[in-house]
Formats: sequence, structure tokens, C-alpha cells
Amino acid sequence: MGNKAKKINNQVTIFENLDFTSYEEIFDEYSKEFYSFIEPKGETTFGFWMQTLADLEFLDLELQGLTDKYYIDPIKRTVELDGNIALIRNRISHLEKVKGKTTLYSEFVEKFGDTNAYAFHNLYPYKGKFYPRIVRTLINAFKLNENSIILDPFNGSGTTTHEASLMCIKSVGIDVTPMGVILSELKNDLLFINEKIISFTKDELEDIFYSIEGKKWSHPNQTIFKLMLAIYFDTLDAFSRTNRYNKKGILGLFEEKYNYVADCYLKTKEIKDKHLLSFVPAKIIEGDILELRDIPEFESKFDACITSPPYYFSIDYVGKDKVAYEYLNINMNKIENKYLGMKKNFISNHTNGLPEKVLAYYEDLKKSIENIFWALKPGGKFALIIGDSTVNGKKIPTTMTAKKFCEEVGFKFEKLIFNPLLGARNRAIRGESVIIFKK
Ligand SMILES: C[S@@+](CC[C@H](N)C(=O)[O-])C[C@H]1O[C@@H](n2cnc3c(N)ncnc32)[C@H](O)[C@@H]1O
Repeated sequence: MGNKAKKINNQVTIFENLDFTSYEEIFDEYSKEFYSFIEPKGETTFGFWMQTLADLEFLDLELQGLTDKYYIDPIKRTVELDGNIALIRNRISHLEKVKGKTTLYSEFVEKFGDTNAYAFHNLYPYKGKFYPRIVRTLINAFKLNENSIILDPFNGSGTTTHEASLMCIKSVGIDVTPMGVILSELKNDLLFINEKIISFTKDELEDIFYSIEGKKWSHPNQTIFKLMLAIYFDTLDAFSRTNRYNKKGILGLFEEKYNYVADCYLKTKEIKDKHLLSFVPAKIIEGDILELRDIPEFESKFDACITSPPYYFSIDYVGKDKVAYEYLNINMNKIENKYLGMKKNFISNHTNGLPEKVLAYYEDLKKSIENIFWALKPGGKFALIIGDSTVNGKKIPTTMTAKKFCEEVGFKFEKLIFNPLLGARNRAIRGESVIIFKK
């Protein structure tokens, strides 16, 4: 604002000509006053993305896992801490700076301009995706390290497995939908692909687009093969929803989406090289959680399970990827039948006033929890991310029902944090709970 702020406005009033403070000057004074509140001062400071009381609880949770000595000052938005500073700086997801230096998470946020869409997390708009920051927090809270292995049996588009890979921790992700599996594999494989393989010119992209459209697309590298298909499906879906892209055209949108992924690749690589990170690949499996015990080596194998089952009865998870399944000639009915709570011939005499489909879902949810218990090591940690939804105008108590199931199965309850979904458009979905248990 500089000199401008010093300008005094001479204004005519009913009494006489008077000098008034200019707007600029008022602004300047205010901003001086408030500056100290905007940027926390100190060596170890909160990230600007810490917005809710839940975030404060998450910070506390991850600090518990990362150090024995810390004190959170919620007013100054700072933390005093001791311990393995390099490790904390590398891992923590709610702080911007630790002992004067930027955290790795904050570097991701800065580079990608987003607190959740960093690395390949935003590769595709998968329905019901959860926040990578929560996964990071839980990995920290559970004191997991490079010798640990994590399970997500409802891995969806692979948020858990991708975040685990970025944190250099082994993981296994299972999902029943082929599209989820393709996306999780992609997020995984793109971390290890060679730069030359992922570079394409505008002309090449045009050829690729038309060969996919003509169902003639092939490529020797499976990652590139699947990546281009995923970008094509996303383009088709986005294009059909709005006429906003008419000007750039469908091909223009395809190119734009490819450029976004290529840019994510470069940014991720820059951070990887700068910090000498050795990302760890995840194992992705197409499968049904209800059949988890068919993989005997998974018994008592995992140190932690971080997962979120489908629970919005209002979301058509499979239908969302109709474009992809039609193109790939995959029978969607077969997938839908395996979907949690979608058994076609479910009959119950004890409805307790709950819709049948909710009861069928609860039966499958309990079996899923039993299987997770079976797959965890004794002492293993379990984080279930779940929320209540509404069916036919009736609120369904899924959170507390799931908690009860976990305890019945043998889990020890440790903590519940309610995380409000501030941006949720659907008013029925107010937020979700992160419920933590121990085997
Ligand atoms: C809430 S979404 C999980 C989203 C995931 N956390 C992400 O970030 O993409 C629930 C997932 O459960 C999967 N699912 C549903 N029934 C399943 C089953 N029987 N076995 C395994 N996965 C199943 C769905 O395909 C869906 O991807």
C-alpha cells in the first residue's frame, strides 16, 4: 500500500470541509493489527489448513504417535516439541513448519496448491474418496514405519495405498470394482514410471484419443495404456455433464487432463528427488472383502487397517463409472451384486423399522469387520471412517452400529473423532467419524 495509504481525503460535510482518513489508511492500520493473527509466529506452526476443532484433535493424535514431548498452543497456533525432528518434519500433516523448516506435507501443499490433491490423489474424481491427510494422520498416530504393512479392504481409488507409498510404507489395497483397481494401480505405478515414457506431444495425444475412441488403443506399457483410458473416461464423463467445455472441445479437454497428470508427475518427482524419498509400491488386488479369508497368508499379517466402507446409500458408486464399464465390456450387474449390502435375495424377519437394504448392508458390514479383525496382528490398529446417511428421509445410525459391531467382534475402542465435511453439497451428509480401535 505504501505512500497511497498516507493520502488523506478532503471531504465536504454539512459543517465544513474536513479531512477524513482514506480507506487505504484504514485498511493499512487494520492489516497491521491483524497480520499477527493470520500468520502464526514461532518455529513450529500450524498449517493454514487447520480449520476445525477436529483438525486440532488430529494434530494431537499424530503428535502422540511421533513424539513423547509436545505442547499445542491453539491460540498462538504453534507447537512446542522435542524428539526426532527430521522424522516429524517428514511425516506430520497438520504443521507448516517444524523448528523453523517447512514440513514435507507443506511442500506438497505449496507445490500442488491444494491440501488433498497432491501427487496423484486427484487423478480421477472417484466417488466417496477420502482425504489423504486423514490417512497420513492415522499412519503417524499408529507409529507405522518401513517395516509395517497396512491394509485397506475398501481401497476404492487407492487413497490409503497411495499415501502409504508416498510415506514409504508397504500396503495392500483391495476393492471389488475394476475401476477402483485400475485407478489404485495407476496412482501406484505412476510413482515409478520413467519420465520419457510419460511424455507425449499434442499430435501423439490426438492419435491416442482417436484410437481409444475407435477401440484400437494399445500400448506396450500397461501403465500408459490404463492411464490414457482413465483420462479418456474422465473426459467423456466431464464433457457429458456440462457444456462448459464446448469451447475447448472434447479433444482439448483430453489434452488438458493429460497435461494435468504429466504436471503431477513432474512435481511429485521434484519432491521425491529433493528429499531422496524411496516410495514403496503397494499391492493392489481386485477382490471381495467378504472373501478375504480365501487368502490364508493374510491371517494376522497387518499392523494396521485404515478403511472406509461404502455407506452413502445415496451414491451410485458403480453407476458413476458406467462409461468405463461399457467401454471395457464389463458386466456391471456382477459387480453390483458383490457390493456391500447388495445381496439380491436377502430376507429378514427383524427389520426393527430399518429398511431391508440397510439390514442387508449391516449384515455384510459385520462380516467385513470380522474379516478385518482376522487379518490384523494382535495389537494391530484399526481406523474406520464412516458416517450416517439418510434412507427415505430416515437417518440411519451407521456410525454407532459399526462401532458396536467392532466391539462385538473383539476390537477395543480407543477414540472417535467427528470430522465435519464443510464443503459437502449433500445436506444429509454432515460429516464422518474416524473411529479408532485396537485388536
Ligand atoms: C467409500 S469407498 C472407499 C473410497 C476410498 N477410500 C478412496 O479414497 O477412493 C468404498 C469402496 O468399497 C468398495 N466395495 C464395496 N463393496 C465391496 C466389497 N464387497 N469388497 C471390497 N470392496 C467393496 C467400493 O467399490 C468402494 O470403492
